[in-house]
Amino acid sequence: MSRTIPTQHGLPMDRDAGPFDPPRQITRLREARPVSPMIFPDGHEGWLVTGYDAVRRLMADTRLSSRQDIGILHVPYETPGMPAATEPSPQIPGLFIAMDPPDHTRLRRKLTGAFTVKRMKQLEDHITDIAERQLDEMARLTPPVDLVKEFALPVPSLVICELLGVPYADRENFQVNSAKFLVKDQPLDEKMAAYIALTTYLSDLVTSKRAAPGEDILSDLARHDDLTIEELTGAAFLLLLAGHETTANMLALGTFALLEHPEQLAELRADPDLLPDAVEELLRYLAVADIFYRYATEDIELGGETIRKGSTVVVSLLAANRDPQRFDDPDTLDIRRKARGHLSFGHGVHQCLGQQLARIEMRAGFAGLLRRFPTLELAIPADDVKLRTDMNIYGVHELPVTWMETAR
Ligand code: HEM
Repeated sequence: MSRTIPTQHGLPMDRDAGPFDPPRQITRLREARPVSPMIFPDGHEGWLVTGYDAVRRLMADTRLSSRQDIGILHVPYETPGMPAATEPSPQIPGLFIAMDPPDHTRLRRKLTGAFTVKRMKQLEDHITDIAERQLDEMARLTPPVDLVKEFALPVPSLVICELLGVPYADRENFQVNSAKFLVKDQPLDEKMAAYIALTTYLSDLVTSKRAAPGEDILSDLARHDDLTIEELTGAAFLLLLAGHETTANMLALGTFALLEHPEQLAELRADPDLLPDAVEELLRYLAVADIFYRYATEDIELGGETIRKGSTVVVSLLAANRDPQRFDDPDTLDIRRKARGHLSFGHGVHQCLGQQLARIEMRAGFAGLLRRFPTLELAIPADDVKLRTDMNIYGVHELPVTWMETAR
């Protein structure tokens, strides 16, 4: 293991290798020292983990705590004014993504039934209808249009609203406010204001569901008497946020990536049976939810290094997915690849609860989009597409696209 590689100062963020690739410095670190010491902007020392094997092990290691408020309320060291964590942060009721077992288990167990493969299969036709209706609306517009606004954001928002029993008419509130959490260096008071606006809304909603439950996931959750209104609110917040931002960015960035790889796109159009593998490969290749924080509750030996108790550990899922030790020719998008085993949904007890839902949404979304818009193309030069380098979930801010209207 080379010791000549200097300690990493701050998290490399510059997408200098291209819009779909990890920053060059991250790739260099993975090659030289996949478990690498890191100094955060506030001087706090920790670790940056980029190798596939090391990331996978860490995500499955319960000695690593998730109590770091990862990306939801704040990401430590990226939000001005955020102090360095010196111990696991206090838990926010219901926000089980930032909890450890047994608290995490208690809440997650109440939701697993609602997100099983079987349950999601039952919803497949309905999700396809939602995607197709949205595409009908997009087809009525005169191009160019913004694919994020007209397609990528509405589809997962409509789906998660319906599943949770959140009125879609109220989307303005949650789309605008949830976007504010994901801005990397949003001042803490602005994040808090957005959080309060959203949780006030959701608290009222779950209170009314507890009084008169309906046929939706939040009502089912509200039927559990042992959950407080605060816990229901926190869980609703997590599901709503996690349920639309990630998939929306996968749909938009995935479309951009396919348009930039025309030969792959042509293959996919010619053989839609390739779609499930293509979706898995796009997940691997793009890893829109890339950076996650953990906190070592004990000394941990990993990749020849010792992570001391109390350290903050940062993992890059994108870097892991691009590790040549795990995937051949990892920086090539290859829709025929068997990409299962990628880490884009995480690994271990926190592995994405909504992954089957996300897969179905992406299959239905891409299938409909490619079929309905055979002449789809970017309406601006690729270099001008606004990338979400300023956000905790990566993607594009807008994707102006056009098509030949006669070919619709
Ligand atoms: C957790 C990614 C879609 C709900 C996670 C984690 C990742 C992830 C990486 C692990 C976090 C960690 O270990 O700290 C993604 C991606 C998606 C997606 C890339 C889309 C392509 C969804 C959807 C839902 C959802 C549609 C719908 C409800 C959740 C929840 C957790 C989670 C509730 C927390 C699980 C736990 O802590 O036990 N997601 N997600 N996700 N995701 Fe997703």
